[in-house]
Amino acid sequence: MQRLWWHDAVIYHVYPRSFLDTDGDGVGDLPGVRRRLPYLARLGVDALWLSPFFASPMADFGYDVRDHTAVDPLFGDLDDFDELLDAAHGHGLRVLIDYVPNHTSDQHRWFQDSRADPHGPRRDWYVWRDPAPGGAPPNNWITLFGDSAWTWDDATRQYYLHSFLPSMPDLDWRNPAVQDAMFDVARFWLDRGVDGFRVDCAPLIAKDPALRDNPPSAAGSSAHHRSMGGFDDQIHLHDQGHPDLHPRYRDVRALLDSYGKPGDRVALGEVHEYDWPAWSRYFGRDLDELHLPINFGLLGVTWQPQAIGGTIRAILDAVPAGATVTWVMGSHDDPRVASRVGPSQAANAMLLLLTLPGTAILYNGDELGMPDAAVPPDRIRDPWGLRTPALSRDHARSPMPWSSHSDSPSAGFTPTGVEPWLPITIPPGGTVQAQEADRTSPLSFTRDLLALRRTTAALRRGTIAFLDAPDGVLAYTRSDGSEADLLITLNLTDLPVPIDRLLSQRPPRERLLSTARTADAGRGADPTVLAPGEGVVWSAETRGQTDRQDG
Ligand code: NOJ
Repeated sequence: MQRLWWHDAVIYHVYPRSFLDTDGDGVGDLPGVRRRLPYLARLGVDALWLSPFFASPMADFGYDVRDHTAVDPLFGDLDDFDELLDAAHGHGLRVLIDYVPNHTSDQHRWFQDSRADPHGPRRDWYVWRDPAPGGAPPNNWITLFGDSAWTWDDATRQYYLHSFLPSMPDLDWRNPAVQDAMFDVARFWLDRGVDGFRVDCAPLIAKDPALRDNPPSAAGSSAHHRSMGGFDDQIHLHDQGHPDLHPRYRDVRALLDSYGKPGDRVALGEVHEYDWPAWSRYFGRDLDELHLPINFGLLGVTWQPQAIGGTIRAILDAVPAGATVTWVMGSHDDPRVASRVGPSQAANAMLLLLTLPGTAILYNGDELGMPDAAVPPDRIRDPWGLRTPALSRDHARSPMPWSSHSDSPSAGFTPTGVEPWLPITIPPGGTVQAQEADRTSPLSFTRDLLALRRTTAALRRGTIAFLDAPDGVLAYTRSDGSEADLLITLNLTDLPVPIDRLLSQRPPRERLLSTARTADAGRGADPTVLAPGEGVVWSAETRGQTDRQDG
């Protein structure tokens, strides 16, 4: 099979609001991303994905798009985007952007037209319905916030559908004009040279045509999705994931393939589906739909070897032959991985993310070991959090702390004297500047790991096999035939663990890379002991070496 760039890429997820503010409004911007491209190139990632920077009233920080083909002035303008894209390509970095097909802002021209005239040509670009008898909403669908997904429009005496905030009405993809218009949006950005899209809420663009009620769920149907109220009390059978989405994603794939060589442009898909066989349908039966449906399995997993190994195996078992699996450990929507697994395991989480087969998405700041930010109630900015404090995602969005100068309380995120939109959090390992100078920092570790991945075929494309290991240790090999069986061991406990049985080959394996960056890591003199919390990539045991030794 021909190898394409995204088959084993590391995609760095930039949340532009929080990356670097160059114009002094307290919010990051596109020129800020451009200025930090050398940082990303040095880190050793292959691509970046930018969360939305489109014109928006910012009711959901850009996921509520007012104009798909304009840059919001907060982030710069189209020239800034073109310059960023060119410069990224100059550094050998691909650029993916967010694509939000399910909804727009209520301030989008399309919705304003739709709302204004019940008989106008854009009415049926969105989902309008008469009330149920007695005036109730047309069905029982609800948002993540636990309230009805329908809002009454008094002027035109109908309800409209919104899967998220009332100010984010859902488009109706059953209307071919909507698909045409959204494909024009995709062409606009592909023509500018983007390398692909991350499709927001991919399952949502096909819903039950009859808008039937969702059935109740005893156990909670989406255990990993953070939500409030009754969202998890329904099985989301009819408000997403209708089989009609397959022809739509086949069309998306064909559109992408019409640019450059087929397979050059790629679609990542946000797919919050935890039933892995159902999740795997997003690849398409002939692998002709989304290239890279993201699996969120590692975000909710219990940090324990059996649970992690079981989740990874279940996902890999569901991946169709020839497809590429995509892993994430963090996002702008979820608690930070360093806080989920704890500071002493954060490097292991990075090691796991970057040594699994396939593609990985690295969320900005996770390379620094960034923990959840403490955001006082009066500094909450996430509209979800302002509505429902428990749903706030601000803790995962704190600005990148670039420099350590005492004259920059914003750690170089904003120009001096400008207050950042969210409070600055300095991770335990320090700012980027401090971590660059420290061989033991999370940043140095991530960089070394990315370099090892780049130069080691087995890590990039080898098969994976899990091994029996002592309690508390996750162990697996990666092998690509020629460069056989690299071993990875993660000590998920805070005690030293001997793993001599796993290492009893000739010649003995050596540590190629360890999360324990200091000589005194707490393992004592025995190299076959894993230090507390230590993760290691061990050198390969190849037949060639053994033969040489024997001879
Ligand atoms: C998923 C995005 O990641 C999230 O930030 C956003 O609020 C929703 N989709 C709605 O677009």
